[in-house]
Amino acid sequence: MRRNRDPQTLADSTTVLDRMARILAARGIDQATVNAPGAGTEAYSPLEALSAGMPPRYRDAVATHPQVLAWARQVADQAVAPSTGARRQLTTGPSLLMAGVVGAGKTHQAYGAVRALVQAGIGVRWRATTAADLYAELRPSSGTDSEQVLAGYSRVPLLILDDLGAAKSSEFVEEQTYRLINRRYNHCLPTLITTNLAIGALRAYLGDRVASRLRQMTTQVEFEPVDRRRHQRVA
Ligand SMILES: Nc1ncnc2c1ncn2[C@@H]1O[C@H](COP(=O)(O)OP(=O)(O)OP(=O)(O)O)[C@@H](O)[C@H]1O
Ligand SMILES: [Mg+2]
Repeated sequence: MRRNRDPQTLADSTTVLDRMARILAARGIDQATVNAPGAGTEAYSPLEALSAGMPPRYRDAVATHPQVLAWARQVADQAVAPSTGARRQLTTGPSLLMAGVVGAGKTHQAYGAVRALVQAGIGVRWRATTAADLYAELRPSSGTDSEQVLAGYSRVPLLILDDLGAAKSSEFVEEQTYRLINRRYNHCLPTLITTNLAIGALRAYLGDRVASRLRQMTTQVEFEPVDRRRHQRVA
């Protein structure tokens, strides 16, 4: 049930990809035309499937930050195979709060961290959203079942919650963030959070309850205050 709601499911990726290939074939679509860039006509590997599910900007992101790599090792060590011989799946683990100025490379490291786990042979069901997009999805006016949307983000084994603190503060923002973070906190689900705010400012923005949980569940990673976008001509 839950698996179907998570678009970026990599668990049992062979089965999923086989099913996808059958669906494409039934619709007369050549799978080679939907392969990841550079994948040619070869079958998807878990890494290629991963890249295809990432935004193009971060498809080649590699985690290099020592604390991010340490986090990936720790989470990989806690992965468990559901049955003998099966791929080990991400279960519980610590989270990261990556703080830094605009353009410091936080989102790059977050996607790179997911890649590091897949490269380590771990099955990872993950999702990524910016906090602002999440709040938009959760608003009653969005036309979605907001409880179901929140449940999806609350339960997915690994979540990238990007740009926490960038949306305008409100009671709604504080409440929805509390509900999400509290559930992930209770279930010890790894969450990669990026923010432009310092923890003190996050406390003022999201309230004591969220800040207290974040303090306990995350390792805080400070990025060098360099805007990489200023030094790169990027598409
Ligand atoms: N280690 C890296 N190697 C190469 N390019 C990088 C690296 N880190 C970041 N970049 C590039 O620098 C730019 C800014 O990185 P990113 O988007 O991750 O910053 P950010 O900290 O998330 O910024 P913001 O707070 O505005 O969201 C992007 O184009 C990204 O691809
Ligand atoms: Mg970012």
